[in-house]
Amino acid sequence: MKFIKPYLFAVTTLLTVSCTSQKETASLKDVYKNDFYIGAALSADQIEQKDIKVDSLIKKEFNAITAENIMKSMFTHPQKDKYDFVLSDKFVESGEKNKMFIHGHTLIWHSQLAPWMEKITDSTEMKAFMKDHITTIVSKYKGRINSWDVVNEALNDDGTLRQSVFLKALGEKYLVDAFKLAEKADPKAELYYNDYNIEEPAKRAGAIALIKRIKAEGGKVDGVGIQGHWRLQSPSIEEIEKSILEYSALGIKVAFTELDITVLPNPWDLKGADVNQKFEGNPKMNPYSEKLPDSIQTKLAERYASIFKLFLKHKDKISRVTFWGVYDGQSWLNDWPIKGRTNYPLPFDVNLKHKPAYDSILKLKNAEE
Ligand code: G3I
Repeated sequence: MKFIKPYLFAVTTLLTVSCTSQKETASLKDVYKNDFYIGAALSADQIEQKDIKVDSLIKKEFNAITAENIMKSMFTHPQKDKYDFVLSDKFVESGEKNKMFIHGHTLIWHSQLAPWMEKITDSTEMKAFMKDHITTIVSKYKGRINSWDVVNEALNDDGTLRQSVFLKALGEKYLVDAFKLAEKADPKAELYYNDYNIEEPAKRAGAIALIKRIKAEGGKVDGVGIQGHWRLQSPSIEEIEKSILEYSALGIKVAFTELDITVLPNPWDLKGADVNQKFEGNPKMNPYSEKLPDSIQTKLAERYASIFKLFLKHKDKISRVTFWGVYDGQSWLNDWPIKGRTNYPLPFDVNLKHKPAYDSILKLKNAEE
């Protein structure tokens, strides 16, 4: 008896310590490692590793990265004969160093263009721009950037083609041209069409038609990026599931590329991520400026759980799930569609602490075991 007591004490202590440390070391990327990549969009400061705490959180939790802004045309190609790769080099180097899946966002997008690009109306000039832009950027990171958003947000919500500078100058052909140029520059990179609201029926039909057309004309499309700028109540799990099934029936991968869930009131029931839609604020529109009430925190956790439950059900079709930001304080949703609000869309809060939403995503995997 004399010996048993200390022995039991030692075993209990050991078990407690090991359980606690296991809990502390659990991370999204590790727990989901056999399912799909778990990514985050990084801000310029995060790419420059300015905050050591954020940096270690990124390394611990994520195994895929996207640049939130710095690889958009206005930054990488500010003038016709000038490219700027200072930050994108750092982004790719850090992804390689940390053995992460590196996603390129984005090559052909109507928004955040350099001013000189917006002036192009002539078809020959636009063709030359696309060739130079795509070839230069994709070749520079050949074999290093694993996948690209080749074309971003080419559709209107009704599924018709957006009247972008590219469509106006070249007609629909710009779509297949973009994919062909990207494939030529790096035949092994995975090429995606990326858009918001493409889980909604009309826009989804438009995206399916667009992807089929590009493939029929000889373009290589490896996947579709459903952005996933969602709300607590919508879109429904049924529509998301239909989307996974219908897109993967095209023989392509499905990625959720910009996931976040707004908890704030939505003027005019706005959906999606059109950055040109902005509204004046009033206090009613910013109800949780101090703190997120527990009831909403719970709703957010339940919403994330039901979304990830669906993702796990279809993990064979899903390549990557990327959050649009690392933590709440950084989210674009604090400034859209109303500037200066306090939103809570991500699994980590403003102090980098994991939220019940994070726990609910991890718990799903424990339940599987
Ligand atoms: O860098 C400037 C800073 O110098 C200036 O002081 C400040 C003043 O407002 O603006 C800063 O630039 C902002 C930039 O984000 C960096 O934070 C821009 O105003 C702001 O418009 C820009 O917003 C980005 C938005 O794309 C622009 O299109 C968001 O961060 C970014 O999250 C968002 O991401 C898009 C995806 O690329 C495509 N899908 C939709 C998604 C959400 O809109």
